[in-house]
Amino acid sequence: MPKVLVSDPIDQVGIDILSQVAQVDVKTDLSKEQLVEVIPEYDALMIRSGTRVTAEVIEAGRNLKIIGRAGVGVDNVDVPAATRKGIIVVNSPEGNTIAAAEHTLAMMLSLSRYIPEANAKLKQGKWDRKSYTGNEVYNKTLGVVGLGKIGAHVATVARAMGMKLLAYDPFISVERAEQLGCSLVELDVLFQSADYITLHIPKTPETANLINADSIAKMKPNARIINCARGGIIDETAIAEALKAGKIAGAALDVFSSEPLGESPLTALGKEIVLTPHLGASTEEAQVNVAIDVAEQIRDVLLGEPARSA
Ligand code: NAD
Ligand code: MLT
Repeated sequence: MPKVLVSDPIDQVGIDILSQVAQVDVKTDLSKEQLVEVIPEYDALMIRSGTRVTAEVIEAGRNLKIIGRAGVGVDNVDVPAATRKGIIVVNSPEGNTIAAAEHTLAMMLSLSRYIPEANAKLKQGKWDRKSYTGNEVYNKTLGVVGLGKIGAHVATVARAMGMKLLAYDPFISVERAEQLGCSLVELDVLFQSADYITLHIPKTPETANLINADSIAKMKPNARIINCARGGIIDETAIAEALKAGKIAGAALDVFSSEPLGESPLTALGKEIVLTPHLGASTEEAQVNVAIDVAEQIRDVLLGEPARSA
């Protein structure tokens, strides 16, 4: 019987699917070294964003046929190294779209109305109404950077809330943007005009540090930035300094250049920043979707059937 290692928390439904065809071992607290040590015995590896599947892990995985990422981004997998060894890498491109889009909208509203800090204060017994006069999103301009699956859903809901929409995405047609109610503009125009800027792009060499001191300097003083895409698209030092200096009004971040987030200038800031620990995909519905999606692909490959690769 083939063996599957599940090295990040995955919904039970995925484990049940894999158990039909394989022995499934769930080991979610392996160190880097332990992973390299155990991986030779496995035919398949199923992960979320916690496990880093480096070239070293892939090299050690002499029986590995497939790596399944229960989520969208495969940026924690060295895909070129896997491809060189003929190991298939699969993901779930759509299973958590709604979860990530809804988290983005929740972050935007939390930031606008200072909900996390007001909530924390009230739980400490303080009835403070005067510190938390927020802003409405109605009639404000939302700039969507990346109008793919998540960006499109965010745009659709934001439009229903009465927001005006700008979008920047070099790979999307004007017709598609218009269908979503967005005016497609150059990135600098979006930076200069938006009250809210939300990022829904992959992290690539082109998008690394896209939000930096220079791009922040183009934004309005009331601009608020939301990043539920990938850490490293924002220069965290630059954004912390801009918030401290009042150059922009706020930021809501779910993802960080290094995760888990350790010591960071971001955590010392106040109500102008909202931070969540990479929770974009963390809904029961999304975790069931991605677990089924990826477990079925792994099962099929272990049964010798063709795969849909990432
Ligand atoms: P998608 O592929 O559907 O959309 C990405 C869009 O970005 C595409 O339309 C593409 O044309 C565009 N794009 C690519 N490079 C660009 C660039 N340089 N400038 C502007 N646009 C560019 O992906 P998606 O499913 O919408 O996911 C978006 C991001 O959200 C990914 O980074 C994904 O990993 C991340 N994500 C995070 C969570 C979370 O837990 N926080 C959950 C799901 C997805
Ligand atoms: C993804 O790319 O799908 C997300 O980062 C979700 C996750 O971490 O599970």
